[in-house]
Formats: sequence, C-alpha cells, structure tokens
Amino acid sequence: MRVSVIGCGYLGGVHAAGLAALGHDVVGVDLDPDRVEQLDRGRAPFYEPQLPELLAEARATGRLRFTTDPAEAAGCALHFLCVGTPQRPGEHAADLRFVDAAVAALLPHLRPGDVVVGKSTVPVGTAERLHEQVVAGCPGATLAWNPEFLREGHAVRDTLEPDRLVLGLADDGTRDHARALLHEVYAAALDRGTPVVETDLTTAQLVKVAANAFLATKISFINAMAEMCEATGGDVTDLADAIGRDARIGRQFLSAGLGFGGGCLPKDIRAFMARAGEVGAVQALTFLREVDSINLRRRVRMADLAREECGGSVAGRRIAVLGAAFKPHSDDVRDSPALSVAAQLLLEGGEVVVTDPQAVENARRSRPDLKFAAGPEEAAADADLVLLLTEWPEYVGIDPRALGRVVRHRRLLDGRNAVDPARWRAAGWSYRALGRPALAAES
Ligand code: UDX
Repeated sequence: MRVSVIGCGYLGGVHAAGLAALGHDVVGVDLDPDRVEQLDRGRAPFYEPQLPELLAEARATGRLRFTTDPAEAAGCALHFLCVGTPQRPGEHAADLRFVDAAVAALLPHLRPGDVVVGKSTVPVGTAERLHEQVVAGCPGATLAWNPEFLREGHAVRDTLEPDRLVLGLADDGTRDHARALLHEVYAAALDRGTPVVETDLTTAQLVKVAANAFLATKISFINAMAEMCEATGGDVTDLADAIGRDARIGRQFLSAGLGFGGGCLPKDIRAFMARAGEVGAVQALTFLREVDSINLRRRVRMADLAREECGGSVAGRRIAVLGAAFKPHSDDVRDSPALSVAAQLLLEGGEVVVTDPQAVENARRSRPDLKFAAGPEEAAADADLVLLLTEWPEYVGIDPRALGRVVRHRRLLDGRNAVDPARWRAAGWSYRALGRPALAAES
C-alpha cells in the first residue's frame, strides 16, 4: 500500500520505517529539514534501540523516503498523522497547532477514498473536528483514529508487534472502506492474531488518554505507598512485590522511585484534566491532580534526602548524578525527573556533575548550567554523594567497590530502587532510597 506518515519524531519516524519494512511504500513528511535529511540517509535522529537497523532494512527495500513537501503525500491511500501535541506553555491544555497545520497542509493533496488516520494523542473532540475538515475539504475522503501506545526505548517492537489495535471509525458511510484499508496496512499484525478493538472516533481518542492516565495513576499509587513507608519505616519494594503478585494488580508499573516524566504521561494527564473541564466533567478527573502532585513531590523528596545526606545543605558539596534521561534506553530529557533533581541541587549551590549513556547532549542543550561527565567514574570523582536517578543497566550493574575508590564519601541515594542495597553496603556504602528505611554502611 502507498501510505504517508506526517510527522517523523519518536512516533512517526518508527511508524514510517516499520510500515516500509512490512512491505508498504512509505513517504515520511516532516517540517524539519535536518530530521528529514538524517532519516533519508538512514540515520535515526534520536536514540532508539533497533531503529537504525529497522531504517536500514526499510531503506534497502527502496520503499521508504522522507521529504519536507506535503505534496508528496498525494496518491497515498492512507495518511498517518503522527505530529506532536505538547503542553501549551503556562497551561494544562494540549497545543494542537502541529495537528492543525498537518491537516491543513494535507487537505489540498487528498483524493476521494483517501483515509487520514490520526495517531497523535489529542484532546477528545479533536478527531470529530478534523473529520469535518477532511470531508469538507475533500468529499469522499474520511478520517479514522488509530491511537498508538508505543513506549520510547521499545518503540520498534511496540510498532511491529503491538499488543492491540484500536480502530476508531467515522459513521459517515465510509466505515467498511476505512476498515478494509486499515486491515490491509496492519495485515502482518492481524495475521499474528493481534486483538482489534473497533470503535467510534470519540472512544478511540479516549482510549489513549485513559491508558496513560491509568499508568500514571499506578505509578503515583505506589509512590504514595512509598510516602507511607517513609513515614512508618516500611519498605515499598517488598510491598510492591507482595501486592503485585495479585494478578488483578500486577507488578508492572509498580516501581516506586522518582516517578514519571517524559514527553507523554505528564502532559497527557494535564491535557486530559483540561479537557474534562471543557466538556463539563471536571470532577471525573480531579484525582489526576493528586496523581500529578504525588509525582512531583518525589522530586522534592529526593532533593530533601540529598540535603539531609550532606548534613543540612548541599552548598559546595560535590554531587554525582547518574542518569539524565527520563527513563533508561532513551535520550529523551523532556520533563525528566533526573534533570529536575539535578537542577534543584545546582540551584542550592551543589557542585552537580551529571552523566548519562545517551542523553548528555540533549541534557546539555536543556540545562547548559549543569556540568556533565562522560561516565560514572568521572562524574563521581571526589563526590560527597552519588545519586542514581535513571536506572540504566550499566548503572545498576556498577561495581560499588570500584566506584567507592573514586568518591570522597561512599553515600548512595538510589532514586529508582534499582540496585541491590546489600551489595553496596558490603562495599562500604551507606544506602538510601525513596520509600525504604535508610541503611548504614557495613563496617
Ligand atoms: C508512555 C506509555 O507507556 C506509552 O504506552 C505511551 O504510548 C506513551 O507514554 P513512555 O513515555 O515512553 O510511554 O514511557 P514509560 O515506559 O511509560 O515510562 C514513563 C515514566 O514512568 C518514566 O519516567 C519511567 O521512569 C516512569 N515509571 C515507569 C516509574 O516511575 N515506575 C514504573 O513502575 C514505570
């Protein structure tokens, strides 16, 4: 099938390459000429495991190209909208300017029978509005909604092997046609038995934000339990292991620590709350305000612990921060809890040195006032305190004895409950984490 993908970031870049690898003829359209050039040369413009290999595989078929010109989308049967919907500055609501611009740019090139397929995360009601625009701009064309659930760091697998397909179809007489095209483009996943939920446009938009709201709530729930453990002397990791054994609860997304960040969960729950207000259902989502506050309190608590460990003030203390990305296997620092703690400690006069296996460049661009190091040993040289804030496997596996030789004081704050405290204590480190009792070094 000939398909276009409008917007080639984490979502669209991977989607375009994935569809080409599956045998479709794909043109990726993006406004950013640098990104287009890199993708067109087979280079991933951001760090995403397996994306370079997928791009190489897709390019080798000769069926994948990228352009800045939306006119090249003409002639495609499906047009996937994959542009970003960031938080509006100073507000909770989503900024839809990229979605609106993408549809406006696409309209003159649509032909009857074309299906525009929204994948971006949007406030409910957006798809209905875009559907009207598409039908008015090109009678015979339609719009469907097909939300995407990919996680950064696992984007390739999540794209090629989704755990479900949600198809929101418009009730405009084109349902069978749109369904047939979507089933054709996703034939590989459907042949493998991937479950399909077919629904209306409204529900399809809600599915995505509901999923993210649920995940955010689950993380904040366990972080609220971490606060209870801190107040009472309990251990939140044992608690999570125990309640997670209940199949109705499940252990996934129950890791207590610094909480959620990134380009999706924080802004999506805020945009969902804003939309609830607009549609007259504000009370339905007021709990998300609490989810957001619990999440942000974890960052404050981490800075409090760092201050305590340094005897009341971090001023003049050397602090090594391991991790800048919002989670491992990503170079994304948008709303990164790790960077936000590092910035707070810098503000309080700490000599903060940050390292990350992939995100240093992005972190430097976002926080040029911080100092960066190439690796953990350089970051931790003469450190009074080491903070593990993103649980990259290479940090979780660090040899505490080796790191102990370069620091001034063997004090670890584990912001992700990621390392084995016994191993670090045996190597002479004191250990503190969120939601767990403090442990002194073994003598
Ligand atoms: C999320 C959704 O998972 C995905 O389905 C959606 O399409 C986009 O948003 P992503 O932002 O890539 O994906 O990251 P995710 O793996 O969900 O992690 C989000 C944040 O939660 C990270 O900062 C992570 O460190 C944190 N997290 C996750 C926890 O603090 N505890 C957990 O148990 C799990």
